[in-house]
Amino acid sequence: MRRGPVDRWTGGALAYGGDYNPEQWSDEVRAEDVVLMGEAGVTLVTVGVFSWGLYEPREGQYELDWLDDTFDRLHRARIGVDLATPTAAPPMWLLRDHPEILRVDRAGNRATPGGRLGWCPSHPVWREQSSRIVTVLAERYGTHPALRLWHVGNELGGGNRHCYCDVSAEHFRRWLSERYGTVDELNAAWGTAFWGHRYPDLDHVLPPRMPDEAEPRNPALVLDFDRFSSDALLEHLRSEKAVLRRITPRIPVTTNFMVGTGPHVLDHARWTPELDVVANDHYVRGVDPQQAQEVAFAADRVRGLSPDKPWLLMETAPNAVSWQPRNLPLEAGQLRRIAFTHVGRGADGVLMFQWRASVAGAEQFHSGMVPHTGKSTRTWREVVALGADLAAAAPLAGTLVERARIAVLVDDESGWAWAAGPKPIADHSPTDLPRRVHRALWSRGLRVDLVPTSRLDELAHYDLVVAAGLYLADELTARSLADVAGRGGTVLVTYLSGIVGRDNQVVTGGYPGMFRGFLGVHVEELVPVPVGAVVGLERGWVAHDWTEVVSVDDAQVVVRYLTGRLDGQPAVTRRDVGAGRVWYVSTSLDDAALGELFEEITAGLGILPPAAADAGIDTVRRTGEGTSYLVVVNHGDRPGIVETAGVDLLTGARWDAGCPVPAGGVVVIDEHA
Ligand code: GLA
Repeated sequence: MRRGPVDRWTGGALAYGGDYNPEQWSDEVRAEDVVLMGEAGVTLVTVGVFSWGLYEPREGQYELDWLDDTFDRLHRARIGVDLATPTAAPPMWLLRDHPEILRVDRAGNRATPGGRLGWCPSHPVWREQSSRIVTVLAERYGTHPALRLWHVGNELGGGNRHCYCDVSAEHFRRWLSERYGTVDELNAAWGTAFWGHRYPDLDHVLPPRMPDEAEPRNPALVLDFDRFSSDALLEHLRSEKAVLRRITPRIPVTTNFMVGTGPHVLDHARWTPELDVVANDHYVRGVDPQQAQEVAFAADRVRGLSPDKPWLLMETAPNAVSWQPRNLPLEAGQLRRIAFTHVGRGADGVLMFQWRASVAGAEQFHSGMVPHTGKSTRTWREVVALGADLAAAAPLAGTLVERARIAVLVDDESGWAWAAGPKPIADHSPTDLPRRVHRALWSRGLRVDLVPTSRLDELAHYDLVVAAGLYLADELTARSLADVAGRGGTVLVTYLSGIVGRDNQVVTGGYPGMFRGFLGVHVEELVPVPVGAVVGLERGWVAHDWTEVVSVDDAQVVVRYLTGRLDGQPAVTRRDVGAGRVWYVSTSLDDAALGELFEEITAGLGILPPAAADAGIDTVRRTGEGTSYLVVVNHGDRPGIVETAGVDLLTGARWDAGCPVPAGGVVVIDEHA
């Protein structure tokens, strides 16, 4: 295996730290920072994310002494630096001198200085200026021994997912010309006969500017603009990376994604090949009643983007955030559970936003590892304890998560296609389905791999493959799913999957047009359910929101509708293909019914959790050469038992059979000790 820059960032242990903003503090506080970092076991900090305006207060005048000093202090304290390129926040002078680099929204309004990420990725002035500051930093710090990782910008697409300016429009047309070649191809792909929107040539194409939000645009145009916008940001990433590679070929490069439940602003599967390390920012949402599962889902989603290499949790909050309507503090012990949920799923580092809570600026009420109140706080105690836990769990570094037997397909473009135009239902989205399926399995202790559709060849390894709400799909996906069943595997397809192809055009002949060939059913009519109405089914099952008129061609009806206009008609079907099996679920089953269905399917396939455990206990296994670690998180409020033997890395205790896991607790068992 090629070992390059990639392994350097962890320093061989699990990285721990956060965004560090010494520029906001006095010299006295900065001196205290490194002492406190030592107490907390910090090993890696992200520096300079938004500091361009301080590095270069006027064009060409640099003030970098404080950064030199920060590097040296951190190095003396044996703390590594993840140096951000400061392109998430262009300096005020640049925006005043070149307002043309500010992004334009779809109503035609140009952004104003004072926010962040307000730039247009297609603008040549922006490209030149951003490359220039990156060059300055790479040349100055590229050989500093503290430098472990480059962090390109910050949450690209977070404030500038789309730019509708004329420069972007021109770039979009070039992108379309590469994708389609001729205007005839584009007209065919976009179905421009509708409303007579045929383009006489590519020069006539404009971004989907929409001063009036209510007026729908061509969904194929909207989807392509989403694709283009992700690619335009990707070009920006590549341009920064090219500078970094040229000057510092041995330092790995990452950027922080915002992968979670979605919807997502980037087509992540297209980005990950550019990154030496996949990194993600994830924050729990106070209102989510299923927070623990959401963390597991997000972490599984990131692992799906980095299955062969450990990844980095670049940001989470040590306590409350400041951008939700009500910013609830984390519960006691929750930070540890969050951290080990990510680590169990392949993260080799846990970093937070931010080291020290700011007193000024737009995020002055966001928690920090060092809170406003200081050290005599629960936050600080938990931060220190987590540092000790991660240090004790160091042997996990470099190991990989054991492959699951269940794959759920995920695809960012598919979510965009759904959102690109009016649909039969506006307040229910198929993009939630992967998370609902994950929840059904997670709550039974079962592991799931969330596999992007860019890696269909991986499906050969799975016993059960699920296409849940995969609204957009192509022939290759259909063939790959059929192949899974053909070789004796099980496939489950839910409603609103395979409805449109890559051009966002409906596949005709009965829904789901792309998949009906192997499902043995076709759907004649889509029947949304009125808000609040309950659909009864056989087995006492219940559904909401969505039903379909299903015609069986070559399948068995497993469960029928029992209520309303669909009474007696098929709701869930199954088709046996040799040793393989294909399920179709035409309705939005509630959690209980979905859980029972997956229980039946997984029991039939003999799929078990990584280790037997009491309810509420999550287990994941990471393995390396001759090593095996079971990461166990008890999300319940009662102590439980997990069936495993070995030594708990966090306490040193040896367990020969059942290992007790305290309520809300975490254990990490070295199964080979
Ligand atoms: C994001 C950003 C950070 C900070 C945090 C606050 O993740 O990257 O700079 O704003 O949110 O939660």
